[in-house]
Amino acid sequence: MHYHRQTIGTNLYIVDAIGSTNTELLDHADRYEHGTIFCARKQTSGRGRNNRDWHSQDGGLYFSILLKDQYNITSSYPFILLSALAVVRSIQSCASLGVAIKWPNDIYINHRKVCGILAESITQGNSSTVVIGIGINVNNKVSHLKDLRHPAVSLKECRGEDVDLAVLLDHIVDELDQLYSDHLNGQFSQHLQELNRLLYAKGQEVEIKSAGIARKIIPLSFTDDARLKCLEKGKEKILNSGEM
Ligand code: BTN
Repeated sequence: MHYHRQTIGTNLYIVDAIGSTNTELLDHADRYEHGTIFCARKQTSGRGRNNRDWHSQDGGLYFSILLKDQYNITSSYPFILLSALAVVRSIQSCASLGVAIKWPNDIYINHRKVCGILAESITQGNSSTVVIGIGINVNNKVSHLKDLRHPAVSLKECRGEDVDLAVLLDHIVDELDQLYSDHLNGQFSQHLQELNRLLYAKGQEVEIKSAGIARKIIPLSFTDDARLKCLEKGKEKILNSGEM
């Protein structure tokens, strides 16, 4: 039976090219409904976290999700993490082994980055507009790129053949919609076991940078409010943001 979407992706736009799908939804939120997905075949100024660029040539999947009237961006963290889970579930048919979520919400396949997520918000009064931008290396070649912070890989490079972008997008959006209703119903913690199985570098020492300062931590698990429990200098800590 065909799955009927409730909120996420009932409005779906696909364009050939745009500067950045995140910028489009942030700048023109008034034109779009809550739950809209805006997707582009390529971006001319794709953005990553910390003001980095995101390579966005043809063949990749670049889209953003609009969440209106949110309490604040922190209250959306659980769903931002669930959106990484939606991507993982959808790409597992291309690469079943070695898929992991690197905190806060990058996706790796065998230690190479396949997907990045950039969540941004604008707050007016007591309500925020949150945009979650997802970039996935699908049929675009990335393993040769040298100017990256982390080695990258695309689904095609893992699987050896092209992936149907429309089928992949459809699958992710269906997952997103179901996980969004779980988020609204307070059922985030139902997914913690799966998320914790996927946590990258669990139990291993890694270096993260928060506010420009390098720290050595050992990731342990996600918490039930989507933060990271870890060990730092032998002490248990809960981290809010930062990156590995
Ligand atoms: C990162 O790993 O630094 C996050 C990358 C996020 C890229 C996506 S592609 C769709 C959306 N539009 C953007 O300009 N960026 C995000």
